[in-house]
Amino acid sequence: MQKDISLIGIGQTKFGEWWGKSLFTLVEEAVDSAIQSAPCSALDIDFIIVANMLAESVNGQAHLGAVASSLLPHHPPALRVEAACASGSIAVHTACALLESGRAETVLVVGAEKMTDASGDEITTALMGAADSEKDAPCGLTFPGIFGLVARRYMHEYGLTREQLNLVSARHHCNALKNPFAQFRQEMTPEQIGASAIVADPLRLLDCSPVSDGAAACILSTKHRSPVRIAASQTSTDTLSITDRPVLTSFAATKDAVQRALDEADVSTSDIAHVELHDCFSIAAVIALEDLGFAEPGEGIRWYERNEAMSVNASGGLKACGHPVAATGIKQIIDVSKQLQASGKHFGLAHNFGGVGATCCVHILQHSPHAYA
Ligand code: COA
Repeated sequence: MQKDISLIGIGQTKFGEWWGKSLFTLVEEAVDSAIQSAPCSALDIDFIIVANMLAESVNGQAHLGAVASSLLPHHPPALRVEAACASGSIAVHTACALLESGRAETVLVVGAEKMTDASGDEITTALMGAADSEKDAPCGLTFPGIFGLVARRYMHEYGLTREQLNLVSARHHCNALKNPFAQFRQEMTPEQIGASAIVADPLRLLDCSPVSDGAAACILSTKHRSPVRIAASQTSTDTLSITDRPVLTSFAATKDAVQRALDEADVSTSDIAHVELHDCFSIAAVIALEDLGFAEPGEGIRWYERNEAMSVNASGGLKACGHPVAATGIKQIIDVSKQLQASGKHFGLAHNFGGVGATCCVHILQHSPHAYA
């Protein structure tokens, strides 16, 4: 990073089905809680970046920069970014660029989504906006359908069994028991995962991240300090349509973003103590572990068969925390920062993608407990 950027404030709503709360209320709750946790006042915020994917189609609200800016007494300049399910991490990436350029010193980033106001059909159609509307959607594909194809191909190539895949969501649900912000805090056995309803063969209900409402916010600063800093912020893109990809079982944007992030932070995979990865569907977690360099191709499932030192989705991941799409990338960074502060370890990684891995963003956080004591 060209400047020392500290993560000085974090806040989120519980993710879930919030019938009684508007998109505005969710944004406000997350922002208030991030400001309260920061060592500065709201007036120190000189820019806001809002992440959102679906507000026009689901909530009838655009212009979300102004929505967030209206919450602060001095109405700082604000803009909104959209990169499908990677919107949150792209918003943090954009904030880092503003801070590195010197145009801002303290930036509030907030991601929010209110998805449950729409019917299942409406939300499935709206989410397909993250794929290719000329090549993927006309084939009748949905996101569960696309990842069903990916899972089937992965099983064909590497011999992954349904019983093995059950371990992924079972672990993430178990981890969420300790997370008060998670949408689903029930233990799920591998057998329950494997017996849940088929959504897009071979994927079942409990392989899928749910449809969720929620917001997450963080404050980044080059002026105020905290023990957690952004050591790397990298993004990479791939073809929008899966029909243009040479392989279905690996996402090139993840591989590229992580390599550049590791280089930027000057660390290797063995330095990473905590990972929050993008498990929109169980198979995506297996592939992410491989693409991020923590496992060889075909071996990602081993992380769920053993107890490894590095924690993976200790928050519960998208599967159990919920996936209000544009809030997720920010919430992952919040979780990694909490995990580093609790464990006293030095490096953690957040991996967030949009579409079928078409946009990927990787952040590496560094925790230096005594740096600012
Ligand atoms: N995990 C766990 N439980 C879930 C769940 C999930 N993913 N989705 C729904 N449930 C629960 C609900 O809470 C509900 O429980 P209840 O009966 O005790 O109230 C029950 O299952 C049925 O919920 P419902 O909303 O009717 O499910 P659905 O069939 O309409 O939707 C999915 C299920 C999997 C199709 C939907 O969650 C989905 O589309 N997920 C993927 C979202 C997506 O594509 N995101 C982008 C990723 S790139």
